[in-house]
Amino acid sequence: MDIEQLRELQNRYLSPWDKQYYEHSIDLERGKGVLVRDGRGKKYIDCFGGVLTTSVGHGHPKVTEAVIRQLKTGMIHTSTVYLHEARVRLAQKLAEITPDGLQKSYFTPSGGEATDRAIQMAMMATGNTDIISLCHGYHGQTLLGKQLVGQKTWRELPSLVAGVKHAPHPYCFRCSFGHKYPGCGMECAHYVQELINTTTEGRIAAFIAEPVAGIGGIIPVPKEYFEIVVPIIHAHGGFFICDEVQTGVGRLGETMWGIEQWGVEPDIMTMAKGIANGFPLGVTIAQPEIANAVRGLNFATYGGNPFSCAAALATLQAIEDEGLMENAERVGKILREKLCEFLDTYGFVGDVRGWGLMQSIEFIKEGDEPNKPAPETAAQFMESCRERGLLIGRGGLYGNCIRIGPPLCITEEEIRQVLEVMEQALRAVRAGVL
Ligand SMILES: Cc1ncc(COP(=O)(O)O)c(C=O)c1O
Repeated sequence: MDIEQLRELQNRYLSPWDKQYYEHSIDLERGKGVLVRDGRGKKYIDCFGGVLTTSVGHGHPKVTEAVIRQLKTGMIHTSTVYLHEARVRLAQKLAEITPDGLQKSYFTPSGGEATDRAIQMAMMATGNTDIISLCHGYHGQTLLGKQLVGQKTWRELPSLVAGVKHAPHPYCFRCSFGHKYPGCGMECAHYVQELINTTTEGRIAAFIAEPVAGIGGIIPVPKEYFEIVVPIIHAHGGFFICDEVQTGVGRLGETMWGIEQWGVEPDIMTMAKGIANGFPLGVTIAQPEIANAVRGLNFATYGGNPFSCAAALATLQAIEDEGLMENAERVGKILREKLCEFLDTYGFVGDVRGWGLMQSIEFIKEGDEPNKPAPETAAQFMESCRERGLLIGRGGLYGNCIRIGPPLCITEEEIRQVLEVMEQALRAVRAGVL
């Protein structure tokens, strides 16, 4: 179908929530590795991976084979009412590769539902209802997810669930306390105690956080943060839920799960996105005593579908066999070094930050007002990259942060190409020629 016709049908029949990034939406038809192609044959390097989901690359042969093998059995769906080997094997694998203590998995079709189940589990196991999440955090779009998220752009409903309190995000570029890291005494972390004292009865069900906030604008949590906050939460009876939906499966390099680099063990962990390379799957994995404390019935029709579990097993195998975690670290360093050069060169680049293959550029307005967000510059940069055949993401409370999260298989040569395109786009933005 011709693109204009597609766009017209999109406007007529798709909900406005079916949001497109670009003014003129791009239709993607084919993909291989880090490359995708639109309906007219234009190729793009995909540095967003369907929102950090295509972890081992588009059309990975081992994932495709595993799914086809599963589909050929005719058993596409079983629901959690029946056993299926792929689901059990995946649960076993996850217990082996997640931090010590995490052992029992519950499968859902998405990350948002994994969050929801994690919170329910924490509430049932503790008997408490207060939950702490971070301003600038994001954990999905269920009704509960909408309460947990700390960005007004995603909270178009009044607060429905009592008990969610937002702690200041450890967002050093825009510190809520006006400090400069590391000479800040980690006031944001210690403030969690005050938040509990002033806004709760002192009994906490859970604290949920991402090691690197994704949608919030790729904000890595400082190294000391969790070491301070998690004991505070434990002292008030609560559990630490680590949201690894974006940071998991090796994206940060060095370790399989982001939180392992902070030296803190979560009580519950959620994952989705990259775990099955795009096949729908969410996971809530918990310590056995927490997992076993659930009561009543819980059900997700598509939770742990055989083909999604087969895809996840193949994805995890590919990450191990192809050394993709190590690749994320190595190529991530090259990416980061060049982004730091951009920071020194372009006055409208306010901050660059990230970890492994999860990096960001935050655009600001040049002028008297320090660090004033420049969402229009981010939009121009994105558009300019698109014209030059590069797909990237955008996020942050002000929409001024560029999000870079390519498949973990991106090569050194490909990342240098990406950086070349970004440099051209930055020059074009500076010159005002787009
Ligand atoms: C950190 C994080 N948690 C949870 C979710 C929700 O996952 P899903 O969109 O699969 O519901 C997302 C989605 O972007 C996410 O980035």
